[in-house]
Amino acid sequence: MYVYLIFSMLMGHCLAQSNPPFCSACSCKTVEQTKFEVTCIRDVRAYLFQDSFWIDSTNKTYPYKTLLVHNTPILTLDKKFPISNVSYLSLANNSIVNISYSIFSNLQDMITLDLSYNNIEQIHPEVFDGQYLPGEYRPLKSLKNLHLDHNRISSLNLDVFEHTPYVEILTISHNPLDKIDQQTLVAIISLVFLKQLDLSYTGLSSLPDAFLHLPRYLEKLDLSGNQFNRIPKTLGDSHSLSVLYFNNNPLVNLTEENGFPKIPTLKILHLSGMRKLLSITSRALSNLENLEELFCYDNPELSHIDKDALSARRDGAEYETWPPIKKLYLQENKLSHIDMQLILEWKDLTELDLTDNPWACEGENQWIVDELMPIYLKLDEEKAKRLRCEAPIEMVALTFRDVYKRQTTMRCLDLYGHRPERDGALLVGILIGVLITIPVVLFLIYVYQRHWFGLLDNSPAGFSRQFYKKTSSQDGPF
Ligand SMILES: *[C@@H]1O[C@H](CO)[C@@H](O)[C@H](O)[C@H]1NC(C)=O
Ligand SMILES: *[C@@H]1O[C@H](CO)[C@@H](O)[C@H](O)[C@H]1NC(C)=O
Ligand SMILES: *[C@@H]1O[C@H](CO)[C@@H](O)[C@H](O)[C@H]1NC(C)=O
Ligand SMILES: *[C@@H]1O[C@H](CO)[C@@H](O)[C@H](O)[C@H]1NC(C)=O
Ligand SMILES: *[C@@H]1O[C@H](CO)[C@@H](O)[C@H](O)[C@H]1NC(C)=O
Repeated sequence: MYVYLIFSMLMGHCLAQSNPPFCSACSCKTVEQTKFEVTCIRDVRAYLFQDSFWIDSTNKTYPYKTLLVHNTPILTLDKKFPISNVSYLSLANNSIVNISYSIFSNLQDMITLDLSYNNIEQIHPEVFDGQYLPGEYRPLKSLKNLHLDHNRISSLNLDVFEHTPYVEILTISHNPLDKIDQQTLVAIISLVFLKQLDLSYTGLSSLPDAFLHLPRYLEKLDLSGNQFNRIPKTLGDSHSLSVLYFNNNPLVNLTEENGFPKIPTLKILHLSGMRKLLSITSRALSNLENLEELFCYDNPELSHIDKDALSARRDGAEYETWPPIKKLYLQENKLSHIDMQLILEWKDLTELDLTDNPWACEGENQWIVDELMPIYLKLDEEKAKRLRCEAPIEMVALTFRDVYKRQTTMRCLDLYGHRPERDGALLVGILIGVLITIPVVLFLIYVYQRHWFGLLDNSPAGFSRQFYKKTSSQDGPF
């Protein structure tokens, strides 16, 4: 009896400790010894907001660390979440349309709120209402990461973030913004501590002037999957931007004119998956003087990168300067040539990918064989071996490494362009020419030595020379 009591007390204790209600209803994982990561993928509408699921009989909050609620059919967020220490709340994928005011105000430890993959069109500023804090406007004081992507937001209320002043990461990607209107602009620039902004796949073709002037700490910006025909000039207003995603935009020729303004802080640039990109011309990237990583791959039409695309000649300077590129990704483009001058020191690269391009094994690329191959083989042998010749026709079976190992010099393509079959004919022509010329020359030398030339020379001088030669040769030495 006594033992049973102790046993049941222990059990009860353990149950209370190890099995908060969400762990019975959903799946649960223990983290940091005493905290729980809850994942609910079933219909939680009956109990999501029930106090007993959040607070135990002694008024203590259950130690949930994360709560993920996914795939509940049409979740209505019309009640307040009870007090909790949850730091990560994801309500993604629940067909949420409307969110009532103040429902998150008890979640003062919440760092991340994920409302992505819903059907939200509008968010009222009071949705994010928090709690009184002296000198502040009822903030959700811990909230740093806010995910609103994959919804139906076309415009943000200008005050929408007035209760979330400490947000550092904001994702609005995959919403039908189409343009950043005045309200949306005010909303975004009100986030003074913003560090990362994801505006990818929002139908944007331009950014408002001076858009990036206010978010002083913005480090990472994603503008991929939009309709930009040029690089937005306001990027030059940024103070801290170090990573830019500009993938999958319909730019055709990236030039000095539509290219990058000065962004001295930018270190990593993504220019991939640009379906229409044909060329990167002289000085298009020259203003990125501190660029370290260039991701420019999977651009199926990109056939030309100018040798001066990255380098710059600063005001009055005598010499070109290059950005300190360390990682260069140019795979899966349509490049047949690349100039050695594109990068200052190829040997300083820590990563290089030139694979899956239709490289031409000919004179202009001779430096790839002579200079780059030894460096590339050391850096990344597997990739270096994969550089194939796709022209001229007689070298198609070879790789640059084959050519490198044979120490051969690649010839230059003919003036008609890349027509190796004509080259073949030309070579045969030259060979025939040489074969005919040799006997003719030998014959002429023979003829000259036999003095037959003179017989054909009817001028007086010729006559005298003939005479002189004859006598001198017949008389012999004195
Ligand atoms: C729990 O808290 C509520 C309100 O915060 C209070 O009314 C109630 O008496 C408390 N219960 C216990 C057991 O402390
Ligand atoms: C949990 O939240 C309560 C009330 O918000 C707070 O008093 C307490 O310090 C928090 N505990 C931890 C471990 O953060
Ligand atoms: C949402 O649901 C879709 C389709 O069921 C799924 O592909 C996607 O991964 C889900 N996303 C999240 C964040 O749960
Ligand atoms: C959402 O809220 C708006 C405005 O309060 C209301 O007109 C609309 O009917 C609500 N929609 C749903 C699905 O509750
Ligand atoms: C891009 O450059 C190519 C080659 O210089 C030129 O023929 C074409 O007209 C340019 N297209 C645009 C849209 O600038």
